[in-house]
Amino acid sequence: MKEAHTSALSWRPVETDSDWDSAAALYSCDVDGIQWPGSELRTDFSTLPAETPRILLLGSLDGEDVVYARSHGQHWYSEGSFSVRVSTRPDEEALARAGIERLLQWEPLRAGTRWETLARSDRAARLATWMSFGFQIKMVCPESRIDLQAIDVDRFSALTRALEREGLTLTTQEDWHADERPERFRARYDFEMEVVTDIPLPEPIVPEPYPVWMESTLEDRRHWGRCWLVIQDERPVATTQFYLPHEGAQTIQTGLTAVARSHRRLGLASALKAHALLWARDRGIRYVTTDNADTNPMYRLNQELGFRRVYDNLVLGAVPGGIQSGSAVT
Ligand SMILES: CC(C)(COP(=O)(O)OP(=O)(O)OC[C@H]1O[C@@H](n2cnc3c(N)ncnc32)[C@H](O)[C@@H]1OP(=O)(O)O)[C@@H](O)C(=O)NCCC(=O)NCCS
Repeated sequence: MKEAHTSALSWRPVETDSDWDSAAALYSCDVDGIQWPGSELRTDFSTLPAETPRILLLGSLDGEDVVYARSHGQHWYSEGSFSVRVSTRPDEEALARAGIERLLQWEPLRAGTRWETLARSDRAARLATWMSFGFQIKMVCPESRIDLQAIDVDRFSALTRALEREGLTLTTQEDWHADERPERFRARYDFEMEVVTDIPLPEPIVPEPYPVWMESTLEDRRHWGRCWLVIQDERPVATTQFYLPHEGAQTIQTGLTAVARSHRRLGLASALKAHALLWARDRGIRYVTTDNADTNPMYRLNQELGFRRVYDNLVLGAVPGGIQSGSAVT
């Protein structure tokens, strides 16, 4: 029954505006808390560097789009990263399996040597589906959330005092780059490339070349006002940021928080996060979510601030030879 059902799926690439809306609707229905508008999904996908192989397919049954399968060639440390979203239906896992199988037929992915995806610990069926293909858990990244209505404002204000140290200036990315001085972009690039290599990940990040970083930075200015920098001697030494919330959202997600090696254990990460959380609270946002590897000091630091674990994001990895489904690689 399931076999017959998924073999009736018809696949097409996402091309038109209505395809993008359909893909965005499928994306949203699988994510609780944060609802991403279609334009976000489209921009995130379209702003990948031109040379990055990518695929986004919609599968429909009887005229209804029920699954999307997405990959792009390189993502940080993996050669193939991919995700599958399925509308909430009784045959959800059969559709997910069909989506994974469809993706694995994609030549650039099959030519890769290392693939990765994410699964949630509280979605046991989907996790079992990925693992049945030979994917294994590489890292545990708890998803944590803080309720900003419950934070102790006095304690948070006290934490931000670490930002008042002699020689430090707090600014936003928007202000720091207001006049687009090239040396400031270069200084931020150098800072980011230093700190991202210190993030515990299944494989170390390969720093991206400056022109690639520059292109994506300039194209994606949406987050600039929500990215804070601590500057010393014209050089960023600490950062934290939020991703753009959906209009009227109650929940916002954190991006990279990092401190230059020369400035660690001075309370800067705690201070910047306290500053950003107070900023969000003052704008009526109730929850902030974050995810870090449970081995990252940032995880403990967030717990100290008041974040609480909701579930685990599991980083799953596979190598092509380790893929077990015969039908997956036909
Ligand atoms: C994680 C990171 C941001 C912490 O920055 P920081 O400014 O040094 O952190 P703080 O000084 O605010 O630390 C506050 C507390 O967190 C804990 N902590 C921070 N770094 C720690 C470490 N390396 N080992 C153990 N505990 C640590 C301590 O309890 C510390 O308090 P203490 O110094 O009084 O003991 C920094 O190590 C970093 O940039 N790492 C690389 C990038 C990264 O992984 N970012 C997070 C992923 S997005």
